[in-house]
Amino acid sequence: MAITPKINGSLKESGDLFTLPKDRLSAKGATEKALVLAERLQRLPGYENLELAPVDSAEATLEIAFAEGPEGGYKLKVEQEKVTVEAYGEEGAANALATLYWMLRDGKGTASGCEIIDIPECGYRGFEIDSSRHFFDTDTVKSMIEQLSLRKMNRLHWHLSDDQGYRVESKAFPSLNSISSYRIEEDGNKYGGYYTQEQIKEIVSYAKARGIEIIPEIDVPGHVVSILAAYPNLSCRELPIAVTPKFGVMKTVFCAGKDEALDFAIKVIDEVAGLFPFEYFHTGGDEVPKDEWKACPHCQERIKKEVLADEEELQSWFAEKIIGRLRELGKTSICWNDALVSGKQSDDIIIQYWREQGTYCSDELKKGRKWIYSCFSNFYLDYTPDVTPLRTAFAFKPVLNSGELLTKETGLLGFEAELWSEWIPTKVRLEQMAFPRIFALADRAWNGSDSYVEFLERCNKEVERLREDGIACFSMEEADPE
Ligand code: ACM
Ligand code: ZN
Repeated sequence: MAITPKINGSLKESGDLFTLPKDRLSAKGATEKALVLAERLQRLPGYENLELAPVDSAEATLEIAFAEGPEGGYKLKVEQEKVTVEAYGEEGAANALATLYWMLRDGKGTASGCEIIDIPECGYRGFEIDSSRHFFDTDTVKSMIEQLSLRKMNRLHWHLSDDQGYRVESKAFPSLNSISSYRIEEDGNKYGGYYTQEQIKEIVSYAKARGIEIIPEIDVPGHVVSILAAYPNLSCRELPIAVTPKFGVMKTVFCAGKDEALDFAIKVIDEVAGLFPFEYFHTGGDEVPKDEWKACPHCQERIKKEVLADEEELQSWFAEKIIGRLRELGKTSICWNDALVSGKQSDDIIIQYWREQGTYCSDELKKGRKWIYSCFSNFYLDYTPDVTPLRTAFAFKPVLNSGELLTKETGLLGFEAELWSEWIPTKVRLEQMAFPRIFALADRAWNGSDSYVEFLERCNKEVERLREDGIACFSMEEADPE
């Protein structure tokens, strides 16, 4: 079966042939997920008028029941007259129906009888979209979610705020939209936008129906120039600053010495957290230059009053206040590994590892933390394929700078690829940079196999499918240049 990710369990064929009626998919259980399947199948020739008919009896053509098992996994049984799913959690139902969809698509409305057991190796299979550097409309975000879901990925990390634009409708602070959501480009044009709260809720439920949970990121205390453009009083020097069209690490950050900066960050995060029901919230913490804090009387006063060793501990102090608030909201925080330099962060946060300078993560490993591994050399898909070819995207190994290997036993939750959008202005470019390289992560994080040659065959098929669906992607030759 040409399916990505490859089944991680067993497949037994029975010789039966199931044929889907052209007009009616009668289904019992997990109606929201069955509706997604029906909508996908409507795109098959001859099935344009297919309708989902929720039924509450044994006459269902598709019967989905939930059972205890590893989250995301499922059993799928295809018989002559009926398809039965045993799903482990909501994700399991979405994943089972993704498999069924590919079978019915390849079989033009038929599926060979079989029994499949399919269980993910790894529980976190993520992808990041950066909507700040370039703003992608809701249809683009949904289209990416649909493609990720069809490959059983289950987390979308949504980078919603950075120096170049703030992208969430704020009812608490309207200037975050009138000022922070727009920038003047170097050619003089105004560029930007933001997602309304209604649009965000719609995307969250669209993703949920496809087995994907969304993790918002509001990156603090650095990467906040767009916010400071509206509220310069929250920086150390309080100088007027514009939402920047430039890329790179900016020195102007939130003042960690001023209570109003911390209060503001907490209120913004409160508002955003209310829009995203999933338990994880990303608070950033990467690339925080300490130049302004070193020269700021408020920051230095804070260091003295809180008996902190230095500016790294000041960053941890600031982060702890935010993480504490998220904890009150029932959320677990994720931080980039840069936020942990001081070694003073509380135990329950999850580290996202991208690039360590030094070996402090080795100490964090001994504390028993949870990790998401996103080392830039394999997982930064904003690097073009001449730098990060498909084979490199596939050949990841979760090692720290110190050489220690992360494993499930040492808290590794899984993997995430990043698509920073500085140089990705359009949907087409976003799709090319994501596809097919993201399938390397989708495949290996699900089945744990490292057979590149076998993967290439299936990946080739995925490229054909994307093309049929009008989704841009690099060809296999472009994705994996010699
Ligand atoms: C990062 O790439 N600054 C996390
Ligand atoms: Zn300051």
